[in-house]
Amino acid sequence: MTGLVHAHSGLRYLILAGFLWVIFNFIGKRNEAFDGGIKKAFLITMIFLHVQLIIGLVLYFKSAKSAMIFEDFGMAMGNSLTRFYGMEHMVGMLIGIALATVGYSKAKRMSDGVLAHAKAFKLYAIAFVIIFVSIPWPFLREFGTWF
Ligand code: HEM
Repeated sequence: MTGLVHAHSGLRYLILAGFLWVIFNFIGKRNEAFDGGIKKAFLITMIFLHVQLIIGLVLYFKSAKSAMIFEDFGMAMGNSLTRFYGMEHMVGMLIGIALATVGYSKAKRMSDGVLAHAKAFKLYAIAFVIIFVSIPWPFLREFGTWF
């Protein structure tokens, strides 16, 4: 369980690196098609997100910080830590991961590569903002961690 929490915590940095890779590619190569290295950056970020989703779901049912919601919903909502892990973190991350997944799969099917790049980037950019603010950073939450 502790190992899983550390893996989940550390993976946030790989996910952030993936998003930064996607963003810098878009800044430098916005007129290039959704192909090659550009597509790879999107794909690798999505793989990190899906691994994180699986670990997160396991944690969700095992961690005392979130499982409280199944025992006493009202009490869990009344405490900032159990509300965050039981509701806010989970909902924010599910929305963010879903947006990125839709972005990738829509872009993959588009025939205009440059438009596909823009479409995938738009959804990844929204996903990035939602995911970033849903991470328990020490500067956003009193119980936040760096690792
Ligand atoms: C991009 C997706 C995600 C990122 C970047 C992320 C990041 C994090 C981070 C940084 C922590 C703090 C770990 C620590 O205190 O050391 C955490 C904890 C947690 N996350 Fe996520 N998470 C993501 C998705 C999810 C999802 C989808 C779920 C559930 C469905 C989830 C459930 C949890 C739970 C239950 C904890 C508390 C674990 C504990 O300390 O006992 N996470 N997450």
